[in-house]
Amino acid sequence: MNFISYVFKRLASIAFFLICNSVSADIDGALRVTQVLVDPPNLPVHDQVASGPPKIVQIKMIIDEKEIEIAPNVYIHAFTFNGTVPGPMIVVHQNDYVELTLVNPTSSTLLHNIDFHASTGALGGGELTKVSPGEEVVLRFKATKAGVFVYHCAPGGPMVPWHVVHGMNGAIMVLPRDGLKDNNGNRIKYDKAFYIGEQDFYIPKDSSGNYKRYKTALEGFADELEVMKTLQPSHVVFNGAVGALTGENSLKADVGDTVLLIHSQANRQTYPHLIGGHGEFVWERGNFSDLPQTNLESWIIGAGSAGAAIYTFKQPGTYAYLSHNLIEAFLLGAVAHIEVDGKWNNDLMEQVIKPTAIK
Ligand code: CU
Ligand code: CU
Repeated sequence: MNFISYVFKRLASIAFFLICNSVSADIDGALRVTQVLVDPPNLPVHDQVASGPPKIVQIKMIIDEKEIEIAPNVYIHAFTFNGTVPGPMIVVHQNDYVELTLVNPTSSTLLHNIDFHASTGALGGGELTKVSPGEEVVLRFKATKAGVFVYHCAPGGPMVPWHVVHGMNGAIMVLPRDGLKDNNGNRIKYDKAFYIGEQDFYIPKDSSGNYKRYKTALEGFADELEVMKTLQPSHVVFNGAVGALTGENSLKADVGDTVLLIHSQANRQTYPHLIGGHGEFVWERGNFSDLPQTNLESWIIGAGSAGAAIYTFKQPGTYAYLSHNLIEAFLLGAVAHIEVDGKWNNDLMEQVIKPTAIK
C-alpha cells in the first residue's frame, strides 16, 4: 500500500469513527429564543414553568478584561464574562439547549474559555471554547440536569485558578420544566430572585503593607500566585466589590415576598446566613431534582458550586445576608443587605420594655 492510499484509508476510518460515534442533536423544529443577559444581582426575564417542548436558548457573552476597584483604593485587572463579577446568570429549563456565542475581543490580552458545570463532556465545554483575542466561538449544550451550577474560565494549568480569582465565573439556573417544588411536592412560585456571586480575591501587599496596583494583569501574576498559595484571601466579596450589595445598592423586597437567593462560589466553601430569617427551602448543593431542606439557619455552598434558598419575608427592616464565617463577612466584605418594607408583626417579636437603667 502506498503512502497516499494509507493516509486516505486512515482519514476514512477516522471519519467513519466520528460518524458512528456521535449522536446528532435532536433539535429539529425546536424553537430558538434569545435570552438577553443582565447584570447580577438581577436575573434575565424568564418563565418559572416551561411552556412547550425544549427550546434552543441563544445567549451571547463578551469577555471583558478590565481594571475594577474591589474596595476603596484596591484594584484588580478583572477577567469578566460580559463586564461583571460574577458573570451574568443564565436561566433555562431542564432539557433546553444553551447555545452560547463567546466573544474574546481583539482588545483582550489573554486566551479564555468557559467550563459549564451544568453541561456534559469536553471539560464542560472548556475544550471546545478556547478563544484567543480576536476570536469567537459557538457552543451548544443540553441542560440535562436541573439545578444551579457554576460556570468559569478554565484555560489550563495555573491559569485556571488565576482566571477564576480574577472574577471569571458565574452561574446558570436550570429550572425543572414544571417549576420548583417544596419538600411536599407543592409548587413554589417566587416573587423575586437575586443572584449573589461570591468572589475571593488575593491582592498582594508592598513592603509598607499597602495593596499593590499593577499596570497589567500579567504583571501581578507571580506575586498573586504566592498569595493564592496561602489560601488566605485578602477580600471575600459579593458581586465584585465590598459594598456592591449594601447601602444604596441593597436588595429590595416587601413583607410577604417569596425571594429566591442564588449563591455561587467558584473557588471555596461558604456559609450563607440570613440574619433574622431562615432558609425555608434550601437546595444546599444546588440540585433541584432532590427535595429541598427546610428551615435552615445557615447552609453550605461547596467550592465550585451554587446553591439556592427561598424565604418569604415576614417582618420589615434591613436584613444582612452574609457568610457566617463572620470574619469573612465583617472583615473581608462578604455581606449583602436586603431592605424589606411592610408592617411589623408583634406576634413574632416585640420589644416589651425599651432599654432603661437597671432598677
Ligand atoms: Cu479567562
Ligand atoms: Cu469547574
